[in-house]
Amino acid sequence: MANQCNILVTGGAGYIGSHTVLELLNNNFTVVVIDNLGNAYKDEKAEKPECIIRVEKLANKSVIFEECDITDENSIEKIFEKYKFECIIHFAALKAVGESCQKPLEYYKTNVGGTINLLNVMKKNNVKKLIYSSSATVYGVPEKLPLTEDMKTGNCTNPYGRTKYIVEEILKDLCASDPDWSVISLRYFNPVGAHPSGEIGEDPNGIPNNLMPFIAQVAVGKREMLHVYGNDYDTPDGTGVRDYIHIMDLASGHVKAIIYQKTKNIKGFKAVNLGTGKGFSVLQMIKAFELASSKTIPYKIVERRPGDISSSYADASLANKELNWVSTKNIDDMCKDTWNWQKKYPQGFKSGSIQ
Ligand code: NAD
Ligand code: UD1
Repeated sequence: MANQCNILVTGGAGYIGSHTVLELLNNNFTVVVIDNLGNAYKDEKAEKPECIIRVEKLANKSVIFEECDITDENSIEKIFEKYKFECIIHFAALKAVGESCQKPLEYYKTNVGGTINLLNVMKKNNVKKLIYSSSATVYGVPEKLPLTEDMKTGNCTNPYGRTKYIVEEILKDLCASDPDWSVISLRYFNPVGAHPSGEIGEDPNGIPNNLMPFIAQVAVGKREMLHVYGNDYDTPDGTGVRDYIHIMDLASGHVKAIIYQKTKNIKGFKAVNLGTGKGFSVLQMIKAFELASSKTIPYKIVERRPGDISSSYADASLANKELNWVSTKNIDDMCKDTWNWQKKYPQGFKSGSIQ
């Protein structure tokens, strides 16, 4: 069958990973997930994380799951002894910006050290195709908008952002050292939303840092009100503008990247933005969520959040041209699907199993 090959997905039990695994299964890829469960829920009696169990039910296909920490090179090696891979999608990372300022060494150890471990094992096993989870954060404070892939990177405002930038630099050096490597670094803008079934979605640990999960928790009554970080930015209504992208569009971007890498025999390092190209303000997001949920979102304007930028949105034309990818879902879909997941499972994956 077409596309029948083993893809290793690191961090596949996380938010973006789980939706991508579903999209891979639906496109007839066979998938091995490794995850250390640092940010994924698994019932102690279950064999696999809850999100993977649900992905399997949605796809009616199975996924191989192995608990593995990428900071331990030996345990990655064991995975490569057991399975043969054609390509790796590397999601596993720590991602909380505030925490990265408190615990920078943990962030460098997992995000940079863990990636080097993975690359070492890939090299030893002659597997040289990688799809890397990068972020719009690598652009730092944008010089101009929309952001194109050839713009300067590296002026990051926090340790998390720097880990994403440093890994991109390592990947460029690696590709320059050996022409057999093929690396696509997908620079995500702001991933939001959930699978339309409401069975899988973003399940933040503790108080959400990001806007959309916070709004959703206010709507469902878990939090009293939203703090809007500043209304004195140079934007139409003064609040921050971002390029929100539906998680299912983001997931399909990974499948398109794998197909592109394989069918066009792509070599070297290539960065590709995954965004919609459209910016929405915090106040526009609140309005859209109120419409989708029929709930009022109480909010109050507070000080700017340190490290925040005013506006960020992608030029997504490269993804369109090279990967044959376009975003298909709008802001109303993003809010509707987030709300569907939030109200169905207010406690996230711990709320209980699929009916
Ligand atoms: P997530 O926390 O939901 O998923 C990451 C997964 O990696 C989790 O399941 C976690 O348990 C696992 N993990 C963490 N450390 C590990 C380790 N040492 N060994 C093995 N597994 C480990 O995060 P996400 O939102 O799905 O993000 C996935 C990737 O996308 C990350 O690399 C992140 O930096 C990047 N990214 C995310 C966003 C976003 O807004 N969510 C934006 C841009 C880039
Ligand atoms: C954050 C991270 C960034 C990461 C991105 C995607 C910071 C400084 N940056 O960016 O590294 O790549 O998420 O995961 O955290 N907002 C509020 N109230 C809230 C939360 C957010 O007003 O409670 C505003 C923010 O000021 C911003 C917008 O909403 O204008 C979006 O915020 P957020 O979802 O955290 O994403 P980013 O700031 O783009």
